[in-house]
Amino acid sequence: MSISFSMGIVELPPEGLRLIYTNPAGLIQMELTQEAFGKLFRELNYTDQFITQWENNYRATKVAGKTMHFEDHTYETDQYFATEASYLGVGESGHDRYCFIVKDITERKKTEENRIKETLAISQMSKMSSLGEMAAGITHEIYNPLCIIRGFADLLKKRLSAPDVNPTALILFAEEIKANCNRITSITEGLCYISGGGPMESTAKVHVRTIVEQTIKVCRERFAKSDISITLNGLDSEALIDCKQTQISQVILNLLNNAYDAVLESGNKFISVTIIEEETEVAIKVLDFGHGISERVKEKIFDPFFTTKPVGKGSGLGLSICKGIADNHNAKLFLSQNAPGRTEFTFAFKQASTS
Ligand SMILES: Nc1ncnc2c1ncn2[C@@H]1O[C@H](COP(=O)(O)OP(=O)(O)OP(=O)(O)O)[C@@H](O)[C@H]1O
Ligand SMILES: [Mg+2]
Repeated sequence: MSISFSMGIVELPPEGLRLIYTNPAGLIQMELTQEAFGKLFRELNYTDQFITQWENNYRATKVAGKTMHFEDHTYETDQYFATEASYLGVGESGHDRYCFIVKDITERKKTEENRIKETLAISQMSKMSSLGEMAAGITHEIYNPLCIIRGFADLLKKRLSAPDVNPTALILFAEEIKANCNRITSITEGLCYISGGGPMESTAKVHVRTIVEQTIKVCRERFAKSDISITLNGLDSEALIDCKQTQISQVILNLLNNAYDAVLESGNKFISVTIIEEETEVAIKVLDFGHGISERVKEKIFDPFFTTKPVGKGSGLGLSICKGIADNHNAKLFLSQNAPGRTEFTFAFKQASTS
């Protein structure tokens, strides 16, 4: 039988928490009989850890001078309980008395847990799909400089085996090889940055410009290959935000991918990313000159699984996940411009203190 509601009275003498009374539902919930009335919880087979926690909670209730709310989790039975406790005053025995109402909230907690697990799974899935999408582009981005390196290495070999070696030309070849190695390093650095955190990533204070720069490193060449140019403005910003940086990268990447899709077919293959500081806020703005968003579509863009892209191209999760990440950071994410051929999303944060 599932009992969801119980109430009763406890007393807190120096020797420990004592059960004075509980209703029949309470007896069932605590697996006790009326013989338990008047007994210390220590005599009723409760662990010291629980009893100490409850005692502290009841003492805190007296100090607060108002009804307090506590939650417990019983690992053995995997149940969750919510307790409302109030101080009643000193009882006949001369000790503090409290009344309590306990509700079994296991079902609600399990639903919440499942929702969090699902959100994490979806977020991870979307991250993987963004990474998957990027993989083809990244292969190209790394393949290009590698071909150039190979070409110059061949030339070096040929020139070195020729009778009249010209050191100046050889140095130029070596410089080219170095420059292309740097291109690859930059792409892999960006990749490490945006794929680093897992669901347990901790919050850190980070420069907004660093996140933007590292994220753009990963897709700049892919965009360039489709003749799409990305300009960056406001990189002199010193603004800091408290965030899970890989999640912020994920949002920027999703906005850039949407902008990429939108401008691909348009004549104006231009995207700009701007960091703007306004008083206590800092915003990242992603502007594109693509096909724009119709009024009908605009209503739904943040809905999960809403997409106007062909089957297999878009999952429709991008913006809904971005919104979830923004909410988790107390940040705002919204469509800030939507004129024909001009679409801008703004991602705005409270700035973190510099100390
Ligand atoms: N910059 C943009 N320009 C035009 N339309 C856009 C832009 N950004 C989003 N949209 C519209 O919003 C819809 C939802 O975007 P969202 O990022 O959530 O999903 P998606 O890009 O379709 O798929 P996914 O990101 O999951 O691969 C898109 O299908 C598109 O119609
Ligand atoms: Mg998208």
